[in-house]
Amino acid sequence: MQPPPHKTLFPLLRRLSDGRFHSGEALAREFGVSRASICNVLAHAQALGLTLHAVRGRGYRLPGAVEWLDVRAVVAHLGCLRQNFDVRVLDSVDSTNRALMAAALDGAPSGTLLCAEHQTAGRGRRGRAWHAVPGGSLTFSLLWRYDTGLQSLAGLSLAAGLAVARAVNRHSAHPVGLKWPNDVVVGPRKLAGILVEVQGDMDGAAVAVVGIGLNVRLGAAQREAIDQAVVDLAELGVKVGRNRLLADCLAELHAIGEQFRMHGFAALREAWQELDVYTGRSVVLSMPDGRTLHGVAAGVDDTGALRLRAAPGAQPLTLTGGEMSLRLERDR
Ligand code: BTN
Repeated sequence: MQPPPHKTLFPLLRRLSDGRFHSGEALAREFGVSRASICNVLAHAQALGLTLHAVRGRGYRLPGAVEWLDVRAVVAHLGCLRQNFDVRVLDSVDSTNRALMAAALDGAPSGTLLCAEHQTAGRGRRGRAWHAVPGGSLTFSLLWRYDTGLQSLAGLSLAAGLAVARAVNRHSAHPVGLKWPNDVVVGPRKLAGILVEVQGDMDGAAVAVVGIGLNVRLGAAQREAIDQAVVDLAELGVKVGRNRLLADCLAELHAIGEQFRMHGFAALREAWQELDVYTGRSVVLSMPDGRTLHGVAAGVDDTGALRLRAAPGAQPLTLTGGEMSLRLERDR
C-alpha cells in the first residue's frame, strides 16, 4: 500500500493542468505552504507516474491537458440516466472497491458510484495490485443491490466487461473485444479489468461491488509495473474526455445491469460471445492450484462459465472461477 498523498497534491495538479507555467513561489503563496513543500509534493506526483515540466525561472506545468473527474460533468453527460446513480468522486482512496463495500455495509443505496483519481492499494484479480496513473485511467466501483441472492449473480463480471467494451466501442475506431472471464482487450493486450466483489445470502439480500479499471494513458512506470501486455486509449487514438467516457460506461452498465437483473447472464451470452477474442483458438487455462488445461475455447455457457473443448469432437468442459486465467497456446 502506498502512503496517502499530501492534501495539496490534487488541488496543485488541477492548477497545473491549464497548460501554463506556475512558479514555485506563486504556488506556495496560493496553497499556503512552503516552496520546499511544493517541490516535495510535485516530486511525489512524478513518483506516481505523472510527467511534469519543471523549467528554471518559469516554474511547473503539466505538459498534456488532463481532464480531471468532475461530478457535475459526469452527471450532465448522464442526462436522464442520472437518477440511477449517486456519483461520488475522491482524489485518493486505498481502493474504490474496498471503500464502496464498506459504504454498502453502512447502507449506501444501489447505484452508488465511487470513482478515484488515485488508489493507494488498487486491487486486481487473483490477488494482484491494480496500477494506474492519476488522471490517466478510470478507476471506479459501482454498487448494485439484489434480493435474489448471490446465486443469481453468476456471470455478472462478464456482463460488466461487455458494458465497458460497448462504451469504449462508441469511441474507438479499433474495436475492442473480451477475454474470459472479464478482461477488455485489443488482441492479446489488456485495456480494462473488472473485479466484482460480493457479500450477502445465497438466496436473500446480496450486494455486488463492480470495480472497473480502464487504461486511458499509461505512463512508462505503470507499463513497467504491470506484468502483462497492456494497451491504453491514447494508443487507440481515442480522445474522448474521461468524464464523458465514465458516463458512457455508466449508461452501458445501466442497460446491461437491467437485462442481467431480469434474465441473468443468459440474455447477454450471445452478445458477449460476439466480442470474445478467443473462441475457436487453442488456449491454456491456468488453475489456482498451478495445474493447466489445454484445449480449444468454445465460448461460454448461460452462467458465464468457460467452455473448453479438450479434444476434437469431445463435449466441452465447463469451467468457472475468478481465480483462473486464460492465454493463447502460442503465447506460452
Ligand atoms: C483485474 O485484475 O483485471 C481487475 C482490476 C480491477 C481494478 C479496479 S480499479 C477500481 C476498483 N478498485 C479496485 O481496488 N479494483 C477495481
